[in-house]
Amino acid sequence: MTEAIDPATAGDAGDSRGVDERNSVAAPGDGHMSVEDIRDAYAEYAGWVDRLGWLDRLLTGRYRRAQFGDARGRVLDVACGAGTNFRYLPASADVVGVDVSPEMLDNARAELDRLGRDGQVHEMNAQAMTFDDDAFDTVISSFSTCTFPDPVAALREMERVCAPEGRILLLEHGRSDVGPVARYQEWRADAHYEKAGCRLTQEPLSVVRRAGLPIETWEKAQFGRITAITATPR
Ligand SMILES: C[S@@+](CC[C@H](N)C(=O)[O-])C[C@H]1O[C@@H](n2cnc3c(N)ncnc32)[C@H](O)[C@@H]1O
Repeated sequence: MTEAIDPATAGDAGDSRGVDERNSVAAPGDGHMSVEDIRDAYAEYAGWVDRLGWLDRLLTGRYRRAQFGDARGRVLDVACGAGTNFRYLPASADVVGVDVSPEMLDNARAELDRLGRDGQVHEMNAQAMTFDDDAFDTVISSFSTCTFPDPVAALREMERVCAPEGRILLLEHGRSDVGPVARYQEWRADAHYEKAGCRLTQEPLSVVRRAGLPIETWEKAQFGRITAITATPR
């Protein structure tokens, strides 16, 4: 990964645009897809996600390993999808995954079996989780705040279920820092949202900041498309 950032200025450093300008980059289709719509979309995608798991690992595996490789204790993977992160978690981690899509969770269970890993997965809305406060040592989530209908609510839930001394580790995609890549994303954004409920040009740091989570560190990679964020509960 590139651009290690000074925690003292985390959130604003490394981005030449000001906070207001970044926040003004509208996410396409904000608000109109419900949690049920997302569940339907992923019922269709689950088969593809399973077949193309190797490609996902090729493109994102090293970022997942770097961000989640030292997750400790009882670990919650929010919107775990097909369980792609599971293989990058330390063997000592006690894994719980949640997702709103039963079809994606079938893939996640199969991944636990393939890896010979103990763990549990549950169907649950990230925006209103049923876990107790402070229930997990580490909360992780990857490439998912872009699909939550209310990402701020989901991030606040991650904070609620994370122990006070725990960490929230996020790996997100968003609008690239590189002009031609960003323009391509903007061109694709509306169609992509209609198909997958995913906000291609979302600004991950802005969303985390809006949720009020203190950001410890962040790093960008892949032309600024990928952002790894470490946050702590307040
Ligand atoms: C792009 S996939 C990412 C999956 C996985 N985290 C990964 O890195 O491959 C987005 C996932 O978010 C899930 N999701 C979207 N909204 C959700 C919600 N409100 N609660 C729980 N899961 C949700 C979808 O079902 C889907 O599995």
